[in-house]
Amino acid sequence: MNDLKDVLERCGIAAQGLSGGTLRVRSAVDGAELARLHETPIASMPAVVERAAAAFRQWREMPAPARGELVRLWGDELRRAKADIGHVVSVEVGKIAQEGLGEVQEGVDICEFALGLSRQLYGKTIVSERPGHRIMEQYHPLGPVAVITAFNFPSAVFAWNAAIALVCGDPVVFKPSEKAPLSGLATFRALERAIARFGDRAPEGLAQIVIGRKEHAQALVDSTGIALVSATGSTLMGREVGPRVAARFGRRILELGGNNAMIVTPAADLDMALRAILFSAVGTAGQRCTSLRRLIVHRTVKEALIAKLLPAYDSLRIGHPMEEGTLVGPLIDEAAYDVFQRAVEAVEAQGGRMLTGGARVLADRFPEAFYVRPAIADMPAQTELVRRETFGPLLYVLDYEDFDDAIAMHNDVPQGLSSSIFSNDLREVERFLSAAGSDCGIANANIGPSGAEIGGAFGGEKETGGDRESGSDAWKQYMRRTTNTVNYSTELPLAQGIRFG
Ligand code: UN1
Repeated sequence: MNDLKDVLERCGIAAQGLSGGTLRVRSAVDGAELARLHETPIASMPAVVERAAAAFRQWREMPAPARGELVRLWGDELRRAKADIGHVVSVEVGKIAQEGLGEVQEGVDICEFALGLSRQLYGKTIVSERPGHRIMEQYHPLGPVAVITAFNFPSAVFAWNAAIALVCGDPVVFKPSEKAPLSGLATFRALERAIARFGDRAPEGLAQIVIGRKEHAQALVDSTGIALVSATGSTLMGREVGPRVAARFGRRILELGGNNAMIVTPAADLDMALRAILFSAVGTAGQRCTSLRRLIVHRTVKEALIAKLLPAYDSLRIGHPMEEGTLVGPLIDEAAYDVFQRAVEAVEAQGGRMLTGGARVLADRFPEAFYVRPAIADMPAQTELVRRETFGPLLYVLDYEDFDDAIAMHNDVPQGLSSSIFSNDLREVERFLSAAGSDCGIANANIGPSGAEIGGAFGGEKETGGDRESGSDAWKQYMRRTTNTVNYSTELPLAQGIRFG
């Protein structure tokens, strides 16, 4: 505890701010209370949005490369605080040390990406059909961006959004998950330090954090002053956020549930597949939205693969996430455990067979925390259970005979985030990546579905929400495109050859 207090202090979160509030923060590691944070008064939400709007009027006029200087400083601060923020993430949400650090590294990486991007916010020039005319596009800042994040990536997902928004000229309002506000705060304080170093060129209200719950998120979702709502969470949450933002013609980026699969064909390198399966199915205790949940294996290799998987699962070290050698930490809380347990119980009722795992472990050592043995279930078909996202380490194994059936099965779920194939057969791989292959936003070959780099656009189709964030040209959603037609002739010809008068 003391140790954490020191770490938080170094992260810019003073001890006196940790008590006396109404938001109880618990550690997933042992259930201990870490803080009672003061919530942002809900009545002050309009003022938060107003401050962001005022900041926008200044920030949008600063040249983008100068804005890039701010994210360079933020990357610097994140790099310096990497060990501390990673520690906070591990204590709060129970990620193993390596994954806590990896999360902060994603923040560093996206800052570097955004810095480069700040000199590359390119529009097109377009030839005009009229003589003496030129058409061009410009990308202008859009307005305040609200970033609503989930517990499972409490640092990185804020960074993905904020770094891009800031270079695009947009102020940010951050609403971290109520299950992981300390990790959010630690990441945000690093941004505040960067803003302080940037000096008075940064307007007041450029970056704000809102500590609270669903009603705080709703206030942002419903505010016409928020130009873009970027929300990560469950499909259930997205079903509410999407229509509410649409009702006011706001923009949104939704990154919702996944039900990510891997197809393993007879041409796969099974040892490589095994390593990829382990990382993506049990990493983060199966609590990534990109976690591997369905293994679709050709009949002829199924037995061999399972024979490799079972001992590997048996030897997984489950335990305190900061202890050397631990690979599987806890689930976030009791509610998550209940959902996991109900899914495990449903396996047999739906014709499946548990091959390993599923039980709660370490309850003696951590009576208030929820560790489980990662589970594998052999399923006869994609039952209702398999088609649902269970946010924990429960892997369903399905088999196939014909490759096209495997692809059909792969796509026959409501979600469409990430996917992968293991095969050294070029035809299979290319077919999986083709228009007739995986219907997901992310499709990989010979790596697992999780652990994406920040340079690509991140997001998925169908119930995953349809949007993209992070790298590639996802920045365009954080900007307003204008199409400009310039006439440098002395005539006034109309388009489409129209004569008027
Ligand atoms: C998430 O789980 O919400 O690709 C994001 C990955 C990480 C991000 C996951 N880079 O697994």
